[in-house]
Amino acid sequence: MNLILMGAPGAGKGTQSEKISERWSIPAISTGEILRAAIKAGTALGQEAKTYIDDGKLVPDATVIGIIKEYLASDKCQNGFILDGFPRSIPQAEALDALGVKIDAALSIEVADDTIVKRMSGRRVCSCGASYHVQFNPSKVEGVCDKCGAETYVRADDAPETVTKRLATYHAQTEPLKAYYAEKGLLIEVQGQQEVSDTTRLIFDALDSISV
Ligand code: AP5
Ligand code: MG
Repeated sequence: MNLILMGAPGAGKGTQSEKISERWSIPAISTGEILRAAIKAGTALGQEAKTYIDDGKLVPDATVIGIIKEYLASDKCQNGFILDGFPRSIPQAEALDALGVKIDAALSIEVADDTIVKRMSGRRVCSCGASYHVQFNPSKVEGVCDKCGAETYVRADDAPETVTKRLATYHAQTEPLKAYYAEKGLLIEVQGQQEVSDTTRLIFDALDSISV
């Protein structure tokens, strides 16, 4: 299955892509995680990305398109993949089409902006990609990742003023992709307001019902 996972910042893309990845045994590729790893490593890509991410803006299309091309050509994506956070603009979606990769569904997790703001304030993440919430989805031991045992932390772009900017960027540049994929008959919208397990159930039901 070749899946695009969309949704506002904090809608639950990372949380749900972990579940989909386990159930269908396909890798999740998060452009956000790749860019954060580059920032941590201090590479040229990281230095370029940091200014945009810290300001709640999209990293330039050409940069992320280059990253995705490389990943999709790699062996690990040959039996399917989940794109978490790509495409995020119409030019990115067109670039993906131009690669000739078949997409089975573009799944959008729908969550209201005021819920997003509450979620972001309690999020804790791990550099391995795991995402927790102090109240709604806590790690077994506070401050320690269940998956790899590393220390969890607050993401730099989860400061309330940056979250507001990221939401505005989402509505202006990414939300139009819903119409783009609806026109292709690929859009699936799933309510993400309820608990994590409720959203997972809705997603599994939706993906089970499409023939791949
Ligand atoms: P990215 O890392 O993708 O951030 P995002 O899209 O803003 O999304 P998040 O990762 O913040 O949220 P999520 O949807 O994964 O939610 P999560 O599962 O963690 O991108 C970061 C930046 O990189 C962008 O701003 C941009 O600058 C750049 N970038 C990335 N891709 C790009 C691209 N293609 N083009 C250009 N620039 C790009 O959940 C959030 C919290 O809520 C967690 O605490 C979680 O535990 C909790 N939670 C989840 N589900 C529920 C639930 N149902 N109920 C209660 N709590 C829940
Ligand atoms: Mg994420």
